[in-house]
Amino acid sequence: MKVITVGLLGLGTVGGGTVNVLKHNAEEISRRCGYQIRVGHASARDITKARICDTSDIQLTTDPAAVVTHPDVDVVVELIGGDTLALEMVLLAIEHGKHVVTANKALIARHGSRIFAAASERGVMVAYEAAVAGGIPIIKALREGLAGNRIEWLAGIINGTGNFILTEMREKGRDFADVLREAQQLGYAEADPTFDVEGIDAAHKLTILASIAFGIPLSFSSVNTEGITKITREDVRNAEELGYRIKHLGIARRTDAGIELRVHPTLIPATQLIANVNGVMNAVLVKGSAVGPTLYYGAGAGSNATASAVVADIIDVARALNVPAELRIPALGFQPQELANTTLLPMDAVESYYYLRMAVTDERGVLAAITKILGDNDISIEALIQKAHPEGELTTPLVMLTHKVLEGAMNRAIAEIERLPSIHGQVLRIRTEPLQ
Ligand code: HSE
Repeated sequence: MKVITVGLLGLGTVGGGTVNVLKHNAEEISRRCGYQIRVGHASARDITKARICDTSDIQLTTDPAAVVTHPDVDVVVELIGGDTLALEMVLLAIEHGKHVVTANKALIARHGSRIFAAASERGVMVAYEAAVAGGIPIIKALREGLAGNRIEWLAGIINGTGNFILTEMREKGRDFADVLREAQQLGYAEADPTFDVEGIDAAHKLTILASIAFGIPLSFSSVNTEGITKITREDVRNAEELGYRIKHLGIARRTDAGIELRVHPTLIPATQLIANVNGVMNAVLVKGSAVGPTLYYGAGAGSNATASAVVADIIDVARALNVPAELRIPALGFQPQELANTTLLPMDAVESYYYLRMAVTDERGVLAAITKILGDNDISIEALIQKAHPEGELTTPLVMLTHKVLEGAMNRAIAEIERLPSIHGQVLRIRTEPLQ
């Protein structure tokens, strides 16, 4: 049987998992792709460190370029992370005519266009299934399984750390900071956890999903991103009382005005399947014009789960080795010259339902003043809860749900409400989506 030699850049959680999965499932993998796949070379910052995999038959080095340029290496698997050295190595691999598999969402979201153009010129493949939602084959589903559809929208829980935090806050009434510390200790969080809690990691993933869903160029800077740091236990409880759950969602939607790209905490009906995706698990809900809604669920991070996607990509590369470059599946699922420069909407132009929470002085006329401002801005209230005045406190919490409105109108109304003397502090706003 012919052999494909893999060069691994990075031997951490995902690199170690890739070695293990390739070894444990070697026979099944060869039966599937007709090649024996072996990791021949690997680079790591410290090659003396104990690993989660057996590296005895792998040639180790601290120099990633030596792996990339080694004449035996057919496929370079980039697991360095970040977008400096990783970008340099991926471009070097392409220049040397090597196929690339990467799990690097930041790299694809920020530099994908340049990478795919270079790969196309050199006639090599760049595969990135593991970059979004770990082990869930969502890239393959969008690029291939749903290729007969016009994708209308998608919404995903695509950051496990954020979902773990919100789940623990809801199920155990824990505080945000306390759960984040645990997520870091458990190794779910990014090296810089603000990437998780501020939505940057999810925005990287959403950029990729939107591009292959709608056939638009990758545009990370157009994603409207908001984190979960302002969500309190009180909001989680209020949402529950109103029949909702709070999830940190990445949403991409095609509208008549353009495409919405947004990552933010979102109230979704508790009865939706995706509302019940808990802990570090990920899920992506995709609405196709022909198939209707479809849901993809699984582990969004972790050693073997992410390695499952990396290995699937290596198998795809092996299967397509003898396919002429122009007949291979395009990197973003659409022919590169067919990518459409559709308008990407700023947040002001996005329509949504809203949850509002504010602290008010418990006195006559407050509610009338607030509802007048909302009415003047064409905002209709769907539900309203005024909590009993907490003993010993100056203010009373007021919570409301609104009907659908343009974010621009909501911003104007919030600014006016915050100017009322009976309103204390800022109005907290969480977008609400029925996901229908
Ligand atoms: N920090 C990421 C998460 C890892 O929590 O989902 C997987 O991309």
